[in-house]
Amino acid sequence: MEALLSRSCYGVSTQSPSLGVSDSQTLKSISFSSRFQKISFKSWERQQYITPFKMRAVVRAEESSDSKQLDISTSPRVNSLKPSKTMAITDHATALVQAGVPVIRLAAGEPDFDTPNAIAEAGINAIRQGHTRYTPNAGTLELRTAICHKLKEENGLTYAPDQILVSNGAKQCTLQAVLAVCSPGDEVIIPSPFYVSYPEMARLADATPIILPTLISDNFLLNPKVLASKLNERSRLLILCSPSNPTGLVYPKKLLEEIADIVAKHPRLLVLSDEIYEHIIYSPATHTSFASLPGMWERALTVNGFSKAFVMTGWRLGYLAGPKHFVAACGKIQSQSTSGASSISQKAGLAALGLGYAGGEVVATMVKAFQERRDFLVKSFKEFEGVKISVPQGAFYLFLDFSSYYGSEVDGFGTIKDSESLCRFFLDKAQVALVPGDAFGDDNCIRISYAASLTTLQAAVDKIKEAMLLLRSAVPI
Ligand SMILES: Cc1ncc(COP(=O)(O)O)c(C=O)c1O
Repeated sequence: MEALLSRSCYGVSTQSPSLGVSDSQTLKSISFSSRFQKISFKSWERQQYITPFKMRAVVRAEESSDSKQLDISTSPRVNSLKPSKTMAITDHATALVQAGVPVIRLAAGEPDFDTPNAIAEAGINAIRQGHTRYTPNAGTLELRTAICHKLKEENGLTYAPDQILVSNGAKQCTLQAVLAVCSPGDEVIIPSPFYVSYPEMARLADATPIILPTLISDNFLLNPKVLASKLNERSRLLILCSPSNPTGLVYPKKLLEEIADIVAKHPRLLVLSDEIYEHIIYSPATHTSFASLPGMWERALTVNGFSKAFVMTGWRLGYLAGPKHFVAACGKIQSQSTSGASSISQKAGLAALGLGYAGGEVVATMVKAFQERRDFLVKSFKEFEGVKISVPQGAFYLFLDFSSYYGSEVDGFGTIKDSESLCRFFLDKAQVALVPGDAFGDDNCIRISYAASLTTLQAAVDKIKEAMLLLRSAVPI
């Protein structure tokens, strides 16, 4: 499909080959002002999916008289990626808020608290004291040493500083690990629901994501038999996330041991364990690091970071721990792309690890607040007819199965067909922003982030309840 895009006539640019839709260029070109209602969520999102690959656009500079044509097509690697839906919805809700619509945003994946003072001060001091230069690619020795200490004390894992790579967030650690160990055609095993980026990271590495569905009735835990049945000589990496985004599940140690027994039978298989939510966990659940299981240290790549427990999302700081050959390979990628993480953030990260075991009082207070919110939401949604719940044991998300409402007709809106149309319905009719489960590989569900005050959550529940009356009258449950 060829399209001629003219600057004067095209409202929404599809020119930007952005991975995420937070690209300011993309947003800048959408006007929400008083006409925001005309821009439906669906049409907006669809536009995000029009990749330059499909629309090999030719841009003609109107000012130029010699009508030179510029090839703005992008690589097949980029074109095969889906933009992050969580970012798309967060940005869309933000744009609505900026246009004056009182949207309750429960789509974001970051705590609503401030970065703890001691951490922020350490960052400010780092600037004042001149720690503003490049650090070693792998991170400062003092931070890597502190990470080794943390892993030993809290996770029972023994690593040396040269087995740690500090990066700009856990996301970068994960991508680098996938790129470092996967060859084209390898399979990356991902239990679903999954963190949105895992399958796309596998694709970036020219590997094939193999999605293993789980059931809400099993609390979304991976069935070891299903895992065993999917493994073969192409299986290279199993990605586990516990506590999980989006479900809040926490893998019990016994189940991890069963998984480890299966993994041990496959000499090529490695396990990436994303433990970024490890401190946000609700008793009696406890966290087990996969690498601590017998025989798994050699195969495990442990990813962790500061974004969630220490409310440092904007500081961009995470780390990978693993056998030196794998960590060095990840470091090689990093050295040719971003180099070391911010020197200021690394000083702040050091202060975070100095807060005490599992983040000490500061983190414990935040986790207590999250638990109260979880309890409130679980209680509230249990009263909703036809909605299935798995009580989350960690993280700050509730992943609810609303599929019994699919097929409902709503006057002036249309049909609720799937998780995307349901979220659009909630955004339109309840002004509550949620994320479609489809983004996480489970279209039956929607994700609610409870990184918001109890008062806000109460208001959101009331509004959702009210909007659902429109659905209820359409389809008896
Ligand atoms: C499971 C999981 N892993 C990794 C990340 C990214 O973390 P970071 O901010 O450290 O890149 C997130 C953020 O939402 C996440 O939910």
